[in-house]
Amino acid sequence: MEQIVKHLSRKNICEEIKPGASSLIIFGASGDLTFRKLIPSIYTLFKKNLLPNEFFLLGIARSKFTDEEYRQEIKNRLLQENEDSYIISKFIEKVFYTSGFYDDDALYLELKNKLNYLDKLFNTQENHLFYLSTPPNVYLEIIKRLGKFNLTKESENSYSRIIIEKPFGSNFNTSKELDEELHKYLNETQIYRIDHYLGKETVQNIMMLRFANIVFEPIWNYKYIDNVQITVAETLGVEHRAGYFEQAGLLRDMFQNHMMQLLTLVAMEPPASLEDTSVRDEKTKLLKTIRPFEKDKIDEYFVRGQYIEGMINGKEVPAYTEEKNVNPNSFVETFVAAKFLIDNWRWSGVPFYVRAGKRLKRKVTEIAIIFKDVPHSIFAKNDITLEKNALILNIQPDEGFSLKIQAKQPGSKLCLNTLTMDFNYDEFFKFKGPDAYERLLLDAMLGDQTLFVRSDAMEISWKIFTPVLEKWEEEKHNGLRLYKAGTWGPKESFELLEKDNRSWRNLDFESENLYESKVF
Ligand code: BG6
Repeated sequence: MEQIVKHLSRKNICEEIKPGASSLIIFGASGDLTFRKLIPSIYTLFKKNLLPNEFFLLGIARSKFTDEEYRQEIKNRLLQENEDSYIISKFIEKVFYTSGFYDDDALYLELKNKLNYLDKLFNTQENHLFYLSTPPNVYLEIIKRLGKFNLTKESENSYSRIIIEKPFGSNFNTSKELDEELHKYLNETQIYRIDHYLGKETVQNIMMLRFANIVFEPIWNYKYIDNVQITVAETLGVEHRAGYFEQAGLLRDMFQNHMMQLLTLVAMEPPASLEDTSVRDEKTKLLKTIRPFEKDKIDEYFVRGQYIEGMINGKEVPAYTEEKNVNPNSFVETFVAAKFLIDNWRWSGVPFYVRAGKRLKRKVTEIAIIFKDVPHSIFAKNDITLEKNALILNIQPDEGFSLKIQAKQPGSKLCLNTLTMDFNYDEFFKFKGPDAYERLLLDAMLGDQTLFVRSDAMEISWKIFTPVLEKWEEEKHNGLRLYKAGTWGPKESFELLEKDNRSWRNLDFESENLYESKVF
């Protein structure tokens, strides 16, 4: 039985629901994502008493571990994070491991027997949540065999759900093929396509901010908003993931999923309720209104770049093509800036400028809603233009939001200054929000698909980007702009906005804090 573990008070609506009996079976259990994200999140849920009492975790991978060795590995990693050894020991009592090859029936036979045994031992009522954290080329092997061994079958009292990590296909056709195969064995209600951005507190807050307040909605449209800017900047390079990134590139890695999710949450219409169908219907509707990119006009809307050597935080870093396991002649993009137009009434003529890149000047993810100028300024003289009002949603690392407005600066008769009203999560709530994976794992156990990507949305999103991917594949190095690591990307990214008489918000720390007053 599900349980509400925190209650509603008069001032806050806070509820957290503890799922009923469940198990988690992770394929790829010896991989990086499992140890870095999944295990710590599940452990934290256990610590917070948010895991069902009837629960077990079964890890599956090719690496050979006994149950005991796997538990020890988990224990060592959690101890390194200074977690409490008593709680760890209680947690790992629920952990098991099976090794084998994903394309070998023997593994699934063993899995079936082990699940039978563990379901009885932990009273988990045959509720199975499978997590595919393997390389994507084995997804189908696994799903086919789960189907063959009847592990995808649900009954009236038990569920079988599958969480699938990205990348979900590599273009429109391959994602459709994967989806069709999945649907041979599973219903859409059993498929949880994960996008970890949706689990971030600040990303969920976009909906709260927009739809739990009356003040924003009346101005959330083309009449008052000049443009929207979404930036996901990372200082990290390709790290140890060159094998994957060389196949993917930044457009597939960040745009088709995370950036589109951010854009949709800002731009969608208010859903009728928080029900997953309602929210996901609105997202799909919005994606359908994004103006498609014609192949011969893509350069007007997209800039792609690749980093060369430069300095990050005072340290020299190599060019992308000099990174380990990267083809020295690679034309894979590590930066993309793009302009999207949305063909509906609300957003008519409002450009959404979106950029993401690796090895940029600083790590920051933000959404900036830039408002229009006042229709008639009684203050502006001598062609001095005042900074536009802006609402900044700081997704990370300084989670919160801020509103930039003009106000009188004390002193001269007429002196205006941009004032920033800041709200910072850490300062206000005095505790760090949960990791995105905690929320998403919990929701999947609860059967809540709101924060997962539905098949139709995935399809439309790939449809938007497939012509772009095809064009870049044809053009190879032609059109790839190089940028120095530690900058904000190629100059062409700035030109994309300059053509529209606009500019990216300056995200350098120093200038953020500079007070620029206008004295008349
Ligand atoms: C992942 C991408 O999905 O998101 C990575 O594959 C990227 O390339 C990461 O670094 C960024 O996530 P976050 O949570 O650090 O913004």
